[in-house]
Amino acid sequence: MTDDQRPQSETGRDDADAPEFRPRKNGPYQTVSDELAAWMRTGWADTERRDLHPVEQAPYAAKRRAALGARFPGERLVIPAGRLKVRSNDTEYRFRAASDYVYLTGDQSEDGCLVLEPRADGGHEAALYLRPRSNRENGEFWLAGDGELWVGRRNSLTEAARLYALPTRDVRALPDDLRAAQPPTRIVRGHDSALEAVLAELRGTAAEDAAAERDEELAVYLHDARLVKDDWEVAQLQGAVDSTVRGFEDVVRVLPQAEATSERYIEGAFFLRARVEGNDVGYGTIAAAGSNATTLHWVRNDGPVRAGDLVLLDAGVEATSLYTADVTRTLPVSGRFDDVQRRVYDLVYAAQEAGIAEVAPGRPFRAYHDAAQRVLAEGLVEWGLLEGPVDRVLELGLQRRYTLHGTGHMLGLDVHDCAQARTESYVDGVLAPGMVLTVEPGLYFQPDDLTVPEELRGIGVRIEDDVLVTSEGNRVLSAALPRRSDEVEAWLAGLLPGH
Ligand code: GLY
Ligand code: MN
Ligand code: MN
Repeated sequence: MTDDQRPQSETGRDDADAPEFRPRKNGPYQTVSDELAAWMRTGWADTERRDLHPVEQAPYAAKRRAALGARFPGERLVIPAGRLKVRSNDTEYRFRAASDYVYLTGDQSEDGCLVLEPRADGGHEAALYLRPRSNRENGEFWLAGDGELWVGRRNSLTEAARLYALPTRDVRALPDDLRAAQPPTRIVRGHDSALEAVLAELRGTAAEDAAAERDEELAVYLHDARLVKDDWEVAQLQGAVDSTVRGFEDVVRVLPQAEATSERYIEGAFFLRARVEGNDVGYGTIAAAGSNATTLHWVRNDGPVRAGDLVLLDAGVEATSLYTADVTRTLPVSGRFDDVQRRVYDLVYAAQEAGIAEVAPGRPFRAYHDAAQRVLAEGLVEWGLLEGPVDRVLELGLQRRYTLHGTGHMLGLDVHDCAQARTESYVDGVLAPGMVLTVEPGLYFQPDDLTVPEELRGIGVRIEDDVLVTSEGNRVLSAALPRRSDEVEAWLAGLLPGH
């Protein structure tokens, strides 16, 4: 038996049929002789890995799928991983799998799709649809732009089945499988427009509104389910936070280089840590020096870093499992806060302390926001920036001219995790053990804000930590990074070159 006649489970080659492949967009500009084509078909070792064990998260993912199936009996559920997105011309953004797909499978493959197919006797049959290994018989593996010779080896379907403890199928068969039987179907939208189009065609335009509503229910269920993290997820988040702490230390060590160049040096130093220890940054790093710190989503990061200024760094390493940290420190570039900076910083710190104290099981989600806002409003009234009484300020939300944003959000696979969860289980809900959230009050005095004394204009301070709700209260996952102004200065003194 030649190598090519062996069944897939032995060779790891999923190329029984010869599928079509896309030729590389700009080539081949060299012609392929019959001799070369024939030669390229042969001489390849069998690299199938037969000793694979399920990934750590496989049993957790199985439980999540069981709960999902129980919520939608008799229905087909389609959860795509997403596809590559064009950056420009023939280059693409780095792929990052959709969070719901990762949550339910542990896999991160582009073009993957999880399908829960309802069984006649109740329950669901799960199948993981994936790109198989590249066909060598028809040249796909070396001539197609997405052939493995260009983009790297994929798991064979047999390997993936072992790793994710799920039956696997060739994703190219998915549209036909969807057409073959048509139980009521829901899809997580926003990741795979081609699959959505197949389903739209099957469901018909008349049903589009109802379908949109049903799909929304699926998304809402998943975001609700992701609110409480299991032990494995908490460990991933702690790992992401630990890498982030090291990334902040990296940044402090290179502050002199940032002074000589720009905020980009800070962004780059942090990114190096994120790529070496994790998958990426979990969101665009905000490296905001001086008055740029008053722009909430300052991601241009092209401003100067000057001694005497504060630099606000809001950055998080996304672990290889895709769980992300979200941490902010506002640091004096010189190593020491001046009096005005310290006054602002200490008020934000006091607000954060008050917020963290409210993070406990059974407490309303809004309580920590309210507690932090009250401290900030009291300070602003005391400084004469707002006219009291404090209760009136809070009732009218006047402090928000300077506090701008909410005091935090859930954290997990997404930085703003569970954004589609029901209001009653998230913003109007109560905290439960296993929830992980940020506590991140801030004060921002715009450089052109005539309502504040000149000495405050252009100062922006945020302190952000990642906090786990425990059965007793909370644990600050980012506690290794100093927060209090004197502790921040001592930490800087130990890391800044020349101190
Ligand atoms: N970095 C985004 C946020 O803090 O929510
Ligand atoms: Mn942040
Ligand atoms: Mn945040």
